[in-house]
Amino acid sequence: MAETYNILAVGDAVGSHATSYLKEKLHSIIQYHAIDLTVVNGENSADGNGMLPQSAEAIYDAGADVITGGNHSFRRREVYGFLDDSGYCVRPANMPSTAPGFGYTVIDAGGRRVLVMNLLGNVYMDPVESPFVCADRILEANKGKYDYAVVDIHAEATSEKAALARYLDGRVSVVFGTHTHVATADEQILPKGTGFITDLGMVGVNDSILGVKSEIIIEKFISRMPVRFEQAVGKVSASGAIFMLDKLTGKCVKVQRISF
Ligand SMILES: [Fe+2]
Ligand SMILES: [Fe+2]
Repeated sequence: MAETYNILAVGDAVGSHATSYLKEKLHSIIQYHAIDLTVVNGENSADGNGMLPQSAEAIYDAGADVITGGNHSFRRREVYGFLDDSGYCVRPANMPSTAPGFGYTVIDAGGRRVLVMNLLGNVYMDPVESPFVCADRILEANKGKYDYAVVDIHAEATSEKAALARYLDGRVSVVFGTHTHVATADEQILPKGTGFITDLGMVGVNDSILGVKSEIIIEKFISRMPVRFEQAVGKVSASGAIFMLDKLTGKCVKVQRISF
């Protein structure tokens, strides 16, 4: 196989159990798999809900190069200034332009310039600008400024993620989905060379509902009343995928699911 550029993408990290777990494990995973660029979704990394500067910094210190977000990026006001300034922590690009922070970043890692873009889906979620239109605009505006492009599509509907991946096939190297916290087994290379998986899964407690204490979520379904989310306690695991790109062409040559 030709020399590859290896990208590790890890699903939504839920709370301080997840950030501590990443701190403990991520560096050795990066080393073992010769990873050039690591992206972790941090939208739920703060205890309680959303993300905080400290929770994003904890993921960065654990070894992530870029942290992506989602519908929970703006839950905590304390993170707004950080989203404006950090340079490595992005929020969905297709939010109204008045939102704090940036929707993509171009990062230098492993000798390549990688554009990492975060997008929100519109199906079964609060509607925002079309992720299709937004992706086109960002790619066009950054022509010649990056070597590879990576897209985190943070969305509920599997069809919307699959459609976006196929729409971008051959124009970006990687499309991965986040938000559901449940990993899918459909990792694949699309016909024009884009690596794709519908959802990476999460970093969180195994005995939980999406990282939250099960009894709280069950209560919510039964009572239909608002509840305060509390992260579950117990054994943690992380899931994601490794995308291997042909260094010359940027086309994906292998996608491998990973859990640790
Ligand atoms: Fe999430
Ligand atoms: Fe989400």
